[in-house]
Amino acid sequence: MRHTTLKPFPKDFLWGASTSAYQVEGANLIDGKGPSCQDVKKVPEGTSELDICADQYHRYKEDIALMAEMGFKVYRFSIAWSRILPKGTGEINPKGIEYYNNVINECLKYDMVPLVTMFHFDMPAALDERGSWSNPESVDWFLEFARVMFENYGDRVKYWLTINEQNMLTLVGPMIGTMVLPKDTKNVLKEIYQQNHHMLVAQAKAMALCHEMLPGAKIGPAPNISLVYPATCKPEDMIAAQNFNAVRNWLYLDMAVYGKYNNIVWSYLEEHDALPTFAPGDAEALANGHPDFIAFNYYNTATVEADDGTVVEGGDQQSSKGITGMAKTFPNPNLQKSQFGWEIDPIGFRATLREVYSRYRLPIVITENGLGAYDKLEEDGRVHDPYRIEYLAKHIEQMHQAISDGVEMIGYCPWSAVDLVSTHEGIRKRYGFIYVDRDDFDIRTLDRYRKDSFYWYKKVIASNGEDLSPEFTVE
Ligand code: BG6
Repeated sequence: MRHTTLKPFPKDFLWGASTSAYQVEGANLIDGKGPSCQDVKKVPEGTSELDICADQYHRYKEDIALMAEMGFKVYRFSIAWSRILPKGTGEINPKGIEYYNNVINECLKYDMVPLVTMFHFDMPAALDERGSWSNPESVDWFLEFARVMFENYGDRVKYWLTINEQNMLTLVGPMIGTMVLPKDTKNVLKEIYQQNHHMLVAQAKAMALCHEMLPGAKIGPAPNISLVYPATCKPEDMIAAQNFNAVRNWLYLDMAVYGKYNNIVWSYLEEHDALPTFAPGDAEALANGHPDFIAFNYYNTATVEADDGTVVEGGDQQSSKGITGMAKTFPNPNLQKSQFGWEIDPIGFRATLREVYSRYRLPIVITENGLGAYDKLEEDGRVHDPYRIEYLAKHIEQMHQAISDGVEMIGYCPWSAVDLVSTHEGIRKRYGFIYVDRDDFDIRTLDRYRKDSFYWYKKVIASNGEDLSPEFTVE
């Protein structure tokens, strides 16, 4: 559909950006915080440890003031489970509670909505030792954590996200340092999808608990959604695209919204003797959890062809190689790639928004979207990142088109507010509007610098998404 005029962004549209605790805070074992899976993992060779990151734990006031200067209406951040419950359950760490109280209050000081991710890739190490998500008790562990958050922050936090990218935890967990399987695991696929099932039940129960304890609050899932294209118009490729869409995307949203397993994924698991075991009450719990909105992270689309028997599984969040018997990924010749090999597809963003909205009819907030690049701090104290401005402008333009297509959007939080440590490629893969003076091994000053994209995004927010031209004013 070619629009002659575009509908404006909603008047109270939530412009902001995102971070996650384990990637930005640092202070990973300070003030009573227990270790998470990220603190005990072996980091990929050549990348930073996660002990300092951007040191936001000690610099949150400066960071939030800079976000306010950009005009943020929202800041999406996550709460580190093991900072408030060092062992995952039981004893509460008052210093941890205090830290997030301070962060929330600092946001509110600037009228910035805190959008809180409950769980972003950082399972407490003590719970991994107790069987991680394989243990059926993990559902109760998560609910205990949810209750502590709702009790302590529910008076001020009105928007909650359950589990960040549960689909990536399931599909590429080892790459992001999150998957712990029991030693005697025989059927790996079955175990992974049992873990996935426990997360789905935990999410559904957390949504119900949120509605019970905090009637005015809203809560939703936050998967990573990439619409999947068939490589050609061959019918076999279309079936492969439907398979990959089901296993990568719809399983998670069908479950969050309808409380039902996607039929294609269910059949796939059945054929591999990998169906999850339901505990008594799971089916009811899944049916009783209702999201108020859908949040999703978007980096690019995926393209697949029929599996010819040569699929090698693996990859990362955006460059998966496919799934045996389901689909084989195919490099899309129409798309350019980032410096880190991820395809770039702004029009696919519009297509993904349209598809998600027409399937689920819930308002959408984008909780990640952005360009990881090698940024350079110049002699003049500036970071010139026109490539990021171009990337974001093209995506916002397509989001505007999607709004004009009738998609109900409530906010946009690109990745990331501040430079932080990437999941597996170190801090050299930067995403922020705010540059942090350090590299993977030299911690330097950790001082903050406004990138060109900082000034540009400030202008975009001030114009409520109308002015996307590359010009900006440095004040
Ligand atoms: C998402 C995650 O997968 O993508 C973030 O939610 C992550 O935690 C972001 O940092 C970008 O990925 P990467 O691998 O470049 O850090």
